[in-house]
Amino acid sequence: MIDGGLYIQLISLHGLVRSTDMELGRDADTGGQIKYVVELARALAEHPEVDRVDLLTRQVFDSKVSQDYAEPEEDISPGAKIIRLPFGPKRYLRKEVLWPYLDSFVDQALKHIRKINRVPDLVHSHYADAGYAGAKIASLLEVPLAHTGHSLGRDKLRRLLDKGMKQESIEHDYRITTRIDAEETALDNAAFVVASTNQEVNDQYSYYDNYNPDRMVVIPPGVDLDRFYPPKSSWFSPPIFEELDRFLIQPRKPMILAMSRPDHRKNIASLIHAYGQSDRLQEISNLVVIAGNRDDIKAMEKGPQEVLSELLYLFDKYNLYGKAAYPKHHQADDVPLIYRLAAKSKGVFINPALTEPFGLTLIEAAASGLPVVATEDGGPKDIVGRCKNGILINPLDIDETQRALLNVLEDRVAWIKRSKSGAKGAYRYFSWAGHVKTYLKTVKKVLKKSSTKRTIAKRRTTRLPLSDRVLVCDVDNTLVGDAKSLETLMQKLKEGSAKRIGYGIATGRYIESTIKTLKEWHVPMPDFFITSVGSEIYYNGSTRLIADTSWGRHINHRWDPDRARMVMMSFEGVKLQSKEEQRTYKISYFYDPKIAPPVAEIRKELRKNNLHVNVIYSHGMYLDILPVRASKGLAVRYLASRWGFPPERILVAGDAGSDEDMLSGETLGIVVANHSPELDKLRGRERIFFADKEYAAGILQGIEYYDFYGAVKASGLSGDNYDGSA
Ligand code: GLC
Repeated sequence: MIDGGLYIQLISLHGLVRSTDMELGRDADTGGQIKYVVELARALAEHPEVDRVDLLTRQVFDSKVSQDYAEPEEDISPGAKIIRLPFGPKRYLRKEVLWPYLDSFVDQALKHIRKINRVPDLVHSHYADAGYAGAKIASLLEVPLAHTGHSLGRDKLRRLLDKGMKQESIEHDYRITTRIDAEETALDNAAFVVASTNQEVNDQYSYYDNYNPDRMVVIPPGVDLDRFYPPKSSWFSPPIFEELDRFLIQPRKPMILAMSRPDHRKNIASLIHAYGQSDRLQEISNLVVIAGNRDDIKAMEKGPQEVLSELLYLFDKYNLYGKAAYPKHHQADDVPLIYRLAAKSKGVFINPALTEPFGLTLIEAAASGLPVVATEDGGPKDIVGRCKNGILINPLDIDETQRALLNVLEDRVAWIKRSKSGAKGAYRYFSWAGHVKTYLKTVKKVLKKSSTKRTIAKRRTTRLPLSDRVLVCDVDNTLVGDAKSLETLMQKLKEGSAKRIGYGIATGRYIESTIKTLKEWHVPMPDFFITSVGSEIYYNGSTRLIADTSWGRHINHRWDPDRARMVMMSFEGVKLQSKEEQRTYKISYFYDPKIAPPVAEIRKELRKNNLHVNVIYSHGMYLDILPVRASKGLAVRYLASRWGFPPERILVAGDAGSDEDMLSGETLGIVVANHSPELDKLRGRERIFFADKEYAAGILQGIEYYDFYGAVKASGLSGDNYDGSA
């Protein structure tokens, strides 16, 4: 089955991703995950059954960051590449503001696939943002999705609420609802979810509506063990040693080493209290704190600024001059050397984080032969449990922390044992090669179940193959509604077909009713029909309609209409529409906003019942329940990928909520003036033109606006946006 080897696509969208000299700790988005995905890509590509790995991430053009992040491609190692795709504004953005641009990323990813003409065997998304995008990509390509959460929104929400933060500010600062929704989507779509620890599965994922432990595999993150190994017998003084030397009176004393981002949750302050309050610890050891890099603390963001200011204050308060080192700078390449130095000094690594689901640094320390003291939480429990290389603590208990550190430092016999068994355990349980082995076992199981390998579909026999761009219109209240402007538009379309401009419609109506309406309004038959709110696709063949049956098969995924109807029965204010409106892949209701619960609640309830559906609300009165893989937008993208249209050569016109997802993304959008209020939220979005004319006149206006019959300009909007003409 794996003839020619697997092609795996990893997606990790935020932070700064490059394969050498990673800027870990530079900002909150450039941390462990970046390293994880780069190393996973490298390790996967090393496996003989893997042929190609692409790590898809965001392309950033910003003078504030290195130009490396603007390079469209970077080789990680033979067979593994970073592919940087542009989406949203050019500049570097923090992950919380990337949400509106993820649909564009989906389109860019499809474009990449078309360019290399190879469909991945597996898409693997990392973190919520990529999960949202990955779910769409995998579903459009009909390939399995793997997902890794890295950290989870529901967990964060709980923690922030516990801290007394208001729901509103959490929403404002972290877009937590959007994030959780994206996580739900990813979990819902994933063929398997990779977790790092058992605790993550039991205590964190279990809060999700789409929690499904059967689909979760625990594979601890691998460590790049080529870089982390115990020190040789003789003392050595790498350049970073000089950096520490400047702080310390007796630099060769055993080192208590802490290394983390300057993040409040990493709880470095408690460690300084513990060290500062213990004469014995100060007598026998030095404290070395590596907390990212800093230039001017006052120029940093609020979080790290507070953490670092407190650290400096505490060093001063306890008068730790000569005993504690907290260098301003270090390079990524220094990190393994620092662990080795600490091991050489017969020191200890401490991770006193408030919570630690992961604990990559602990594995690195173990591999370096450096015993550890760590918070008794998921990651450390698994790691220390397997490596038997240290002591777990309650990091807020200063006495306990002191006792644990003293124990590790003073018991020399145990130190040697811990050092050795740590190094051994790291190799045995946490190498990337071991990780990849388990990973591929799961992948193969999943692939066996999923359908056969696909290539990009061959072109069919309608007019479409000759078209180089396509106009897609909603019918009611968009295409039809005003006879006069419709006539002008029809004229224009006739002109268009000579210019190789394809035309399709996308409607909530079922196919027969659609054709009837078009006839009533004297609209010529389009090249294709997306009907029943995106749940059916037909082509206008030369003699008859051709149903796209593969679309039906594609969206059938986890569709359980009977149960969906059952759950819907429990709501007031929703009433089934007529029999003809009920289709194989569409259940339609009238929705009375005065009586019925909010749509979000209905969604939630369906999800809780393990139903994988799309709930689409439109015109303030219709509610359609569709398979998760169906919507007008997904149908448009499916067609685009099948027929090889770049999204920026698709012009889409609509008026209501059911048109929303086909309007967003890289496609060019027109919202006609007579639209329903549900679409107001799209105002100001890139590539969405709000016409001031109604019905077909609005469409005509949009055609002008984008010069769709001419050079096709993505938009007249700000210069910061991509014009997509590449
Ligand atoms: C059309 C369909 C109806 C659907 C509505 C909204 O009116 O006939 O079933 O609910 O569009 O998508």
